[in-house]
Amino acid sequence: MGSHASHRRSDRVIAIDGPAASGKSSVARELARRLGFIYVNSGGFYRAIAWYLLRKNIPPEEDDLISAALDAAALTGNVQDNESRILVDDVDPGEHLRDDRVNETVSRVSRFPRVRKIVSQKLHDCADGHDVVIEGRDIGSVVFPDTPYKFYIHASPEVRLKRRAAQGERDEIAMRDHDDVSRAVSPLVIAADAYVIDTSHVTIEQVVNEISARLGQIGLPIRDLRITNRALGE
Ligand code: DC
Repeated sequence: MGSHASHRRSDRVIAIDGPAASGKSSVARELARRLGFIYVNSGGFYRAIAWYLLRKNIPPEEDDLISAALDAAALTGNVQDNESRILVDDVDPGEHLRDDRVNETVSRVSRFPRVRKIVSQKLHDCADGHDVVIEGRDIGSVVFPDTPYKFYIHASPEVRLKRRAAQGERDEIAMRDHDDVSRAVSPLVIAADAYVIDTSHVTIEQVVNEISARLGQIGLPIRDLRITNRALGE
């Protein structure tokens, strides 16, 4: 029953890394939809932790307080409508994850090795027994270094700023870029074996098409793409 295949039919991981507002969420979500994979936004896990610490009035610099708060918090993940969600003490912080204050603190919170370890474990739990598209900063470089399906998506700073403005969000992406690239643990890097795409002047659909073509070339059974396309009537 295909047990000799190099990849099982489930728990394949497609890693989509890149800086803020590079287009990776839209691309990862659409790719997951086409493939019938689960979409996982790893930034959402960091954002949920940042939101929780804000709610508890814990400053993002206080290592010991953060550790104690994380000991006390129950972080659980589940899948709804083919997307992962995180609950903190049984509360879904979904609508608050893009609040200004979360945007402001999330990079600083994500520097802590303990926070990174927790999120990494949750991401492995999401992938256990599932095919997933995971977007983030370190998915191909650190969290799933063995996956053959790695993409790095970027766009010019001007284009990324415009995208955030069009989304009606205030987000200091230059500052987050700096924090994300310069932190000691799992900084944003381009994994050596990642396929790099500049999304500055192309549509989401073009990027997803390019990724799909690349996945076919590097051995993700193309049958998966056809089945899903037919199901979608494309
Ligand atoms: O993808 P995003 O902009 O929602 O991510 C929010 C923050 O979370 C980002 O600025 C840094 C952190 N993050 C991370 O450190 N590693 C990841 N894999 C994903 C996000």
